Amino acid sequence: MLPVTSMPWQQAWQAALYGPGGLYRQPAGPAGHFATSTQGAPGLGPVLAGALVRWMREEGLTTFVDVGCGRGELLAHVHALDPAMRCIGLDVVPRPEDLPGPVEWLEAPGGPDLPASLGGLEDALVVANEWLDVVPCPVAEVDVAGVLREVLVDPSDGSEGLGQELQGPDLHWCQRFWPPADASPGDRVEVGRARDEAWEALLGRLVSGIAVAVDYGHVRGARPAAGTLTGFRAGHHVVPVPDGSCDITAHVAMDSLPHDELVDQRSALRRLGVDGSRRPGYELARADPTAYLRALGEASAAAALTARGGLGDFLWAVTRVRR
Ligand SMILES: C[S@@+](CC[C@H](N)C(=O)[O-])C[C@H]1O[C@@H](n2cnc3c(N)ncnc32)[C@H](O)[C@@H]1O
Repeated sequence: MLPVTSMPWQQAWQAALYGPGGLYRQPAGPAGHFATSTQGAPGLGPVLAGALVRWMREEGLTTFVDVGCGRGELLAHVHALDPAMRCIGLDVVPRPEDLPGPVEWLEAPGGPDLPASLGGLEDALVVANEWLDVVPCPVAEVDVAGVLREVLVDPSDGSEGLGQELQGPDLHWCQRFWPPADASPGDRVEVGRARDEAWEALLGRLVSGIAVAVDYGHVRGARPAAGTLTGFRAGHHVVPVPDGSCDITAHVAMDSLPHDELVDQRSALRRLGVDGSRRPGYELARADPTAYLRALGEASAAAALTARGGLGDFLWAVTRVRR
C-alpha cells in the first residue's frame, strides 16, 4: 500500500523547491547547496561573463537576461565588464540588496512559470544556466509487466511507489525522445516535455536575439537507463526527499528542447575565446608579476569551465530569434 500522502514527483518537486518555504526561497540560495559556472570556484563567473559580453558585442546585442539567476552573481560580472549593457535577472526571491543599482530584477513564480512582465525582449542574449534541470517533470518507471508508470513519492521521506500508466502527451514524448532502452523493470525516464514547454515559453518572450539553455544533460542514444533524479544539500549528494530540505534535480534531455544548435560548453566557450589549454608565459611573470597572477587565475578558470568530465561537458542549446 502506498501512503495516502504520495503524489506524482512533478507535483512534490514543485512544492519542495518553489512552494512556501521551498528550497530556492530560503536564504542560502543555490550557492549554499552547489557550485555552478557562475558562482563556483573564484574566477569562473568573470571568465564566463567575459565570453558572454564578447559574444553580445559580436552579435550587436544590448540586453543580457539571466533566467534562474540565483542571487545575480553572473549579472553582477556582466554589469562590471560592460555597464552600458542592460541587465535583467529573474529568480523566485526579491531583488538581492547587493546587486549593482542598474541591474533590473523580476520575481518569478518558479519552475516552468515565468513572470507575465517578461516579454518583448529585443537584441537580447537570454541565458538560463542550470534552470531547466530544476524545472520539475514527471518521473516514470517500467513495471514488472513492461509498462511505463508514473512514479509517486511520499514528500515526508522520499519513499516511492508506482502510480498510473503513463499516457497522453507525456507518453508520446517518451516514445519520441526517450523510449526506455530494453524496457527492463526498474528502467526510468524523466519526462522532458515540461522542460521543452518551459523553454518554448521563454523563447516566445524574445523578439530578437539569442537564447541559450546551459545544463548537464543527455541526448538520444546516451540516455541514463536508471534516470538521474538526485538531491543536493550543502555541497553533498543526498537522497532526493521533496520536503524543502534539499535541491532536487534531474539531467535535461537537451536534444528535445527547441534549438538551432546543440554544442558542448568546451566548444562553445572556445569559439568565444576561452581556451582551457593556454597558460601565461614565464616572461610575463618576470615583466609584470601582478598581470601574470591575474592571467594564471583566468587560465585556471578557463580550464575548469571547459574541463572534460566536468563543466566543459555541459550542453548549450542555442536558438536564434530574428525579427
Ligand atoms: C540550479 S539554480 C542555478 C542558479 C544560477 N543560474 C547559477 O548558475 O548558479 C536554478 C535557479 O533557477 C531558479 N528558478 C527556478 N525556476 C525559475 C523560474 N521560473 N524563473 C526564474 N528563476 C527560476 C531557482 O530559484 C534557482 O535559483
